[in-house]
Amino acid sequence: MPSVIRQFTALSLLILAVRPDGELLDLKCQPTVGIVAQTTDIRCQYKDNGDTNIVGVFLKKSTEENSIFQMYGNKIYGDKRFTLENPRNGPSLKITDTMFSDEGNYDYRVVTDRGEQTIRLSITVTANYSAPVTSTWPETLINGGPADLYCNATEGYPAGYIHWFDKTGTNWTINSVLRKVPKDTNGRKSVALSSKLTFKSINKDLEPFICIVFNSKHVQDGKSTIKSPIFSPEDPEKNVLEPDTTKIIAGGMVIGSLIVGLLFALLFFRRKRSFHDQRRSSAQPFLTDYAKTAEDDPENP
Ligand SMILES: *[C@@H]1O[C@H](CO)[C@@H](O)[C@H](O)[C@H]1NC(C)=O
Ligand SMILES: *[C@@H]1O[C@H](CO)[C@@H](O)[C@H](O)[C@H]1NC(C)=O
Ligand SMILES: *[C@@H]1O[C@H](CO)[C@@H](O)[C@H](O)[C@H]1NC(C)=O
Repeated sequence: MPSVIRQFTALSLLILAVRPDGELLDLKCQPTVGIVAQTTDIRCQYKDNGDTNIVGVFLKKSTEENSIFQMYGNKIYGDKRFTLENPRNGPSLKITDTMFSDEGNYDYRVVTDRGEQTIRLSITVTANYSAPVTSTWPETLINGGPADLYCNATEGYPAGYIHWFDKTGTNWTINSVLRKVPKDTNGRKSVALSSKLTFKSINKDLEPFICIVFNSKHVQDGKSTIKSPIFSPEDPEKNVLEPDTTKIIAGGMVIGSLIVGLLFALLFFRRKRSFHDQRRSSAQPFLTDYAKTAEDDPENP
């Protein structure tokens, strides 16, 4: 393969070198980052922006021999997702419904009425992360208690990262652990992100906590706020703040203990009585039997 590329490039350079007018197009294409399933623009232009008419374009993957797209005159061949955009302004290309398989290096040969040039261009394909999903452990947090906050984002590619902030903007990322799980479903690549922020003792005053998902290019891709109330309403601080609740609970406890006391007393007396009954009922047959034996004994009338 590399020898084919070398020949291809060498041939193009040769053609350029031997052109009688010797004019160089000085074509430049920007490195391209496409988003999967969206339209990708491959921007190319001539350095001097002079009056140039395109005769033909040939795009092939560096690792392949045949063109993936070519246009010559008004004949177009190849992958229908590729088109030449505004040929008057330069040989820029457009790919609709971008796929991960479009990723790679390409050799792009542009033939114009001012000369021709083949340049190498690269395409990388990314995928946006889905909106992050958050959860907590335990489900209801207790002020001052231990807590794990989770922020999960899936479907994105390449791997991004997650940062954590509280309501005051303090950065808690250093206390978090990021897990990345790569996936490949029929060529649809993604890296699932799961960030766990751990607190030994969480402070209610810092809520809501916010997680931000960044893509591999450090651009924010998603954001989620851990919704209030994540804290248990029966935490000790809240009871102190609400004396009415405390009074009701105290009153309830007094009545409760009275009832329990009464129940115990009842139970005690019942048991005591039944103990007596048992003693009597068990003693009776013994005495009866004895009496019976005495009666039946013929030697003891
Ligand atoms: C994907 O993310 C880019 C920014 O990185 C944004 O411009 C674009 O609108 C997003 N696409 C979708 C479908 O959310
Ligand atoms: C996020 O991922 C972790 C495992 O990495 C899991 O324990 C947690 O339940 C997930 N949360 C949500 C809301 O999916
Ligand atoms: C937050 O902290 C992380 C890691 O400690 C750091 O990489 C990041 O730049 C910080 N972000 C801001 C906005 O300070």
